[in-house]
Amino acid sequence: MHTETYRQLDRDHHLHPFTDFKALGEEGSRIVTHAEGVYIHDSEGNRILDAMAGLWCVNLGYGRQELVAAATAQLRELPYYNNFFKSTHPPAVKLAEMLCRLAPAHMNRVFFTGSGSEANDTVLRMVRRYWALEGKPDKQWIIARENAYHGSTVAGLSLGGMAPMHAQGGPLVPKIAHVRQPYWFGERKLAEGRDTSPETFGRECAAALEAKILELGEENVAAFIAEPVQGAGGAIIPPESYWPAVKEVLARYDILLVMDEVICGFGRLGEWFGSVHYDLQPDLMPIAKGLSSGYLPIGGVLVGDRVAETLIERGGEFFHGFTYSGHPVCAAVALKNLELMQAEGIVERVRDDVGPYLAERWATLAGHPLVGEVRSRGLIGALELIDPDTGERFPKSLGAGTLCRDICFDLGLVMRSVGDTMIISPPLVITRAEIDELVGLAREALDGTARRLAAREQADGPAIMIQPSIEESRS
Ligand SMILES: Cc1ncc(COP(=O)(O)O)c(C=O)c1O
Repeated sequence: MHTETYRQLDRDHHLHPFTDFKALGEEGSRIVTHAEGVYIHDSEGNRILDAMAGLWCVNLGYGRQELVAAATAQLRELPYYNNFFKSTHPPAVKLAEMLCRLAPAHMNRVFFTGSGSEANDTVLRMVRRYWALEGKPDKQWIIARENAYHGSTVAGLSLGGMAPMHAQGGPLVPKIAHVRQPYWFGERKLAEGRDTSPETFGRECAAALEAKILELGEENVAAFIAEPVQGAGGAIIPPESYWPAVKEVLARYDILLVMDEVICGFGRLGEWFGSVHYDLQPDLMPIAKGLSSGYLPIGGVLVGDRVAETLIERGGEFFHGFTYSGHPVCAAVALKNLELMQAEGIVERVRDDVGPYLAERWATLAGHPLVGEVRSRGLIGALELIDPDTGERFPKSLGAGTLCRDICFDLGLVMRSVGDTMIISPPLVITRAEIDELVGLAREALDGTARRLAAREQADGPAIMIQPSIEESRS
């Protein structure tokens, strides 16, 4: 079939996730046909560097035949059986054992799900069940953060702190509160226009968590949930003071810590888990995405001993589970994925080699007139777009981030926009040469964005003069 046929059928029959259906129908979809390494290819013959690893998940890159072989072998052996009714199968058992070996020492159990959203539904159920079994049924409130993303099921949506999603999804799950996020550049510097240091701001955000615990009453608060680094919110790397200060707060109260590792888990920050990078000891860790490098859908919740022992010893039957919890083919692929990551030293490579290299190269974009802040950690990075004349955000109507994202695509780069924050999260197997290419393309895209914005503003009102950078070109 040709591109136009696919587009027409897509328009006629396919409702895409997180999409304005009508607008996409008018524009038409990009048809991605195949991929290898860090590149995807579309039906019009374009090769595009996928600096988002799909949706933060294709950590081992595309085209890994070992994963194909693992899936094929398992499909032949046992394509499906469930883990209900006193049954299990070798892939689920082996994957559970391996995950608990990789997880922090106090985490020795895993509950499998089909996705990150289902993992967070499971978290909600487990946390409330835990406190009920502990004889504290009032401990039901869960504190999350504004602008957090924890998935798109009703529990994920409610735990998440995304206002536009809440506006469409209500009524939400009760007894979930949100506190401010440690987003220094967007909230403190730009929105509030204050110059408080990031470190002070980080401590203020931790204090806001404590204030919320006190407002709700410790006796009513079950857990605090957060990502080590907020991904979908805009690759928000908290100030260095944030996690130590949050740890201090949590140590004062008997509240569970849930670290959502759906993005940060499996090497993204240069450790097996983001919690290890920030020296946190969570009670629960929802996982998904990089667990199978996105080759097949699988997620889960790693459960610390404290919670697991109560659920096991006192819980009786836990009325929760999914048809595809621990699906054998998904589990076999996840297991092979983790084995390959170990054998190839992928996590260490991110920590010691490509992570620092990306940081160095990405930082060179700081000099670009459109860039107000550059940040990265491991293989996650962000650029904050600002109007160079004012040092503030561009007017929303200019759609600077979306424009930059579209220009990236045209140049052969997937870089995502969250408002006017440009974000990357490339496959962990990316090479230094591919990082050079990524940064070169990002710079070209910034130049193109600057030119287009200047043209739009000239048409609309006072001209802004943006000198596109010529410091580097595509390598
Ligand atoms: C931190 C986090 N948690 C949960 C989810 C939901 O995962 P899924 O889309 O697999 O349901 C996501 C997805 O992007 C995520 O980024």
